[in-house]
Amino acid sequence: MGLDFEIDSETDFFNGLIELQYGQEDLIEMKKLAQKVSWAKGWPVDNIAFWNAEAFMWQQKIEKEKRELIRRELVFLESGNNLDLGCGSYSYIKSVGFDFSEKMLKFNDNCSEKVVGNLEEKLPFDNFRFDSVTAVFVFNYVNNYEFLLLEVKRILKQNGDFVMVLGNVNDWQKQKEVNSFDFVEWEKVLKKVGFNVEFYEKEGLGFFRCINMLKSRN
Ligand SMILES: C[S@@+](CC[C@H](N)C(=O)[O-])C[C@H]1O[C@@H](n2cnc3c(N)ncnc32)[C@H](O)[C@@H]1O
Repeated sequence: MGLDFEIDSETDFFNGLIELQYGQEDLIEMKKLAQKVSWAKGWPVDNIAFWNAEAFMWQQKIEKEKRELIRRELVFLESGNNLDLGCGSYSYIKSVGFDFSEKMLKFNDNCSEKVVGNLEEKLPFDNFRFDSVTAVFVFNYVNNYEFLLLEVKRILKQNGDFVMVLGNVNDWQKQKEVNSFDFVEWEKVLKKVGFNVEFYEKEGLGFFRCINMLKSRN
């Protein structure tokens, strides 16, 4: 495929993504265009292609006030070595960023290191490597969430903090959700894997501050 052809298709696909914001897109045409763009092939069904496409406008998709609220709640972790799972193009504190979308990672300017990988699989980090782990607007997209939580416990230092934040992002992303537990159910899941959990709600967002009290079972 010629470079010019790919660039033209990419531009048309971008224009479609902008129209998508206003509900004026032609989805059939966009699916066809996506097939011609290497990083968007299979969009919107393919998960990585879907999130790659979200990357271009992701920083603006969440209101500034919400970002600022979350940043304030996470800032206490700033002095340690933090891993941000499903970091997307926006990490709230300086972190090792982990995501399966290379496009998302490319736009993230708050990472000390960027790691491409899948949250459904064993994480590529040594035991007890991190002082803290964060996951903001992520766990509702993970099938293997119990396994992932055990992985978080494995790579966290003992008494390390895991902070999970959940809440509505917007309707377009809902198509990628694979679970939709409410806050009470999530708290039970976190306790079941052995975290000590403090839960609170602010402005409709759920914050789960978890401490890795027990030794990892892995
Ligand atoms: C809703 S965005 C949240 C991004 C960021 N945490 C924020 O607060 O803006 C979800 C992110 O999770 C990533 N993600 C979803 N499923 C994933 C998986 N199985 N493995 C790795 N990353 C995944 C997506 O690429 C996307 O960047």
